[in-house]
Amino acid sequence: MKKTILSGSTVTGDLTLGNYIGAINNWKKLQEEYDCFYFLADLHALTVFQDPKILRERTYSFFAQYLALGLDPQNNTIFAQSHVPAHTELNWILTCLTPLGFLNRMTQFKEKSEKHEKNVNAGLYTYPVLMAADILLYQADLVPVGEDQRQHLELCRDLVGFFKNRYGDRILKMPEAHIEKLGARIMSLQDPLKKMSKSDENDKNFVSMIDDAKKIEKKIKSAATDSGSEIKFDVENKAGVSNLLTIYSVLSGKTIPQLEADYQGKMYGHLKVDLAEVVIQTFKPVKEKYDDLMKNRDHLDQLLKQGAEKAEARARTTISQVYEAVGLVPRLK
Ligand code: AMP
Ligand code: TRP
Repeated sequence: MKKTILSGSTVTGDLTLGNYIGAINNWKKLQEEYDCFYFLADLHALTVFQDPKILRERTYSFFAQYLALGLDPQNNTIFAQSHVPAHTELNWILTCLTPLGFLNRMTQFKEKSEKHEKNVNAGLYTYPVLMAADILLYQADLVPVGEDQRQHLELCRDLVGFFKNRYGDRILKMPEAHIEKLGARIMSLQDPLKKMSKSDENDKNFVSMIDDAKKIEKKIKSAATDSGSEIKFDVENKAGVSNLLTIYSVLSGKTIPQLEADYQGKMYGHLKVDLAEVVIQTFKPVKEKYDDLMKNRDHLDQLLKQGAEKAEARARTTISQVYEAVGLVPRLK
């Protein structure tokens, strides 16, 4: 039996180069070897205010980007979180096992509640519990994410332990985080000390997977670089250049020392021109496929339906076992 992988992305902002390198590119690599569940975290999106029309449109857009990037809906299960009610059902059971102190520690909650100070809602606070439900429903072995999700994964593992202590051992599987060494934290183009984020208000900070070539070129060329002129990987002293080298290395397959050697004696400008081209070539076929997919909503709806059915089958088994274990009376069929 193949091992199970699960991952998702919150449906907010635009999927960025950071999402591609830190997450989706790895999802793609893993899909041959594992039984993969990849989903659109549309319920998680509701933890910050969403214009309903934009949320719906964006959900299609993210789905089309998943497909255009090469995630295969036939051999994997690709679906929308809200289409499988067991996510919110397990969320409740786990919420009742989560000590408040554990949620108080979450750095993403702290950051997001500062950013959205007018809307610090209970959902934002319990966000990691829903994420644990997403993972545990599918008995995932591995969860490929970027570095920023490590703490949420730890909470998920704690919850498996709590559940096991109270209700027994065999129901929820203990998942592992899968975080790649290179590219787990791609930084903002203008401010390389902060993470490239898809909900950044300044769109110069990120490259979106569906930006056109001109835009990509402009954004990479205007990326902040550091004082000095040497092209060298040194995160402490040369955060900007190191970020560009990381992106270059992941997309081209060349190692960082190889790139440093290639650019010895050259200027930052040379690196940026070449990197822009690498990024453009990476996303060009994606954008074409994406445009095609977005023209046919019925097709996307059909694929979402198929994904939800496959996901539902696995999720139902887990939630039934959980309900039984915690002492709820089964409803007669
Ligand atoms: P999010 O954009 O927060 O919904 O994240 C979706 C996935 O992309 C998660 O696995 C993140 O860890 C990953 N991710 C997001 N931003 C970055 C980044 N700047 N560098 C690397 N991975 C990222
Ligand atoms: N919280 C994740 C993010 O924003 C998205 C997500 C939701 C997720 N549920 C998940 C990722 C389950 C992995 C597994 O990046």
